[in-house]
Amino acid sequence: MNIVVCNTKGGAGKTTISLNVLPLLIKTKIEDEEIAYYQLDDNNKIILNSNNVKIKTYKINEANEVLDEIMLENLTNPEKANIVDCGGGNDTKIVIKNLAENRIEDNIFIVPLNQNLSVRHNVIDTINLIKENFKNAKIILIANNVFDVNNIQKEFLSIFGDEDFDIEPLNLKELNVKNIGIVPFIPFLQVIEAKKEILLDKYNEAKEILKDEKIATKKFAEKLDKELKEGKITKEEMKQKFSEFRNIVRNAKRITAAAEKIIEVNQDILEDLTK
Ligand SMILES: Nc1ncnc2c1ncn2[C@@H]1O[C@H](COP(=O)(O)OP(=O)(O)OP(=O)(O)O)[C@@H](O)[C@H]1O
Ligand SMILES: [Mg+2]
Repeated sequence: MNIVVCNTKGGAGKTTISLNVLPLLIKTKIEDEEIAYYQLDDNNKIILNSNNVKIKTYKINEANEVLDEIMLENLTNPEKANIVDCGGGNDTKIVIKNLAENRIEDNIFIVPLNQNLSVRHNVIDTINLIKENFKNAKIILIANNVFDVNNIQKEFLSIFGDEDFDIEPLNLKELNVKNIGIVPFIPFLQVIEAKKEILLDKYNEAKEILKDEKIATKKFAEKLDKELKEGKITKEEMKQKFSEFRNIVRNAKRITAAAEKIIEVNQDILEDLTK
């Protein structure tokens, strides 16, 4: 199965959702699902390694080569999730057209958008292009950067319209939109982007750290105490090392909370992603 993350609008969250959100959601549903990420983008280049996702990045003129690889994967390993992260603008258009030309049809299209009303025409253009090329396409919108997950109607005029301002809601049925996912605004996602890491790896690490937090903390304190008594560290160094350890634990809790929030608010689309 292929998940194609596209929107002609730049900066809507395509890469963040492809690299961080989708692998997390897919693994929640099917633990041993194989996941590959393909970036097809002329303006951005992801360089990082992950324990859980095979990551490859290409220029748009290599699109056919990538789509051949995906086609081969679909034929030989249909269970595998191939996530295609399109660049903005023309890159998105070219990938959609090439998918259709190559008759690669087992796709779910994910279109991320933010609160900016100006993305509305990009969303409509992108979806119309998908519909022109794929009859009965499965399309999921993702409201990204959400501040209040209980109030997305108010935040996303671009989807739900606004009577006072005479903005019509999107006709989701006519646009073939099956569902709407939600990704909260999480500053931590920018931190892991800067550190060239991905959320799923960090979440798994965090769960490991928190599994036996009490025992691990006690063991660490005892180790420091031994080093202190043996004269290897000073009392000040002991305190500092213990603080560093506690910071790792606190961060693990933050990462876990962020990941679990994303999972919690997207229960609806988990089914679609793993069929
Ligand atoms: N939910 C979020 N919370 C916090 N920051 C976010 C979120 N989504 C995206 N961002 C940040 O916004 C910026 C743009 O996001 P991203 O790179 O995913 O967009 P894009 O659609 O892939 O852009 P492009 O069209 O250039 O490929 C990034 O720095 C990213 O870290
Ligand atoms: Mg991108």
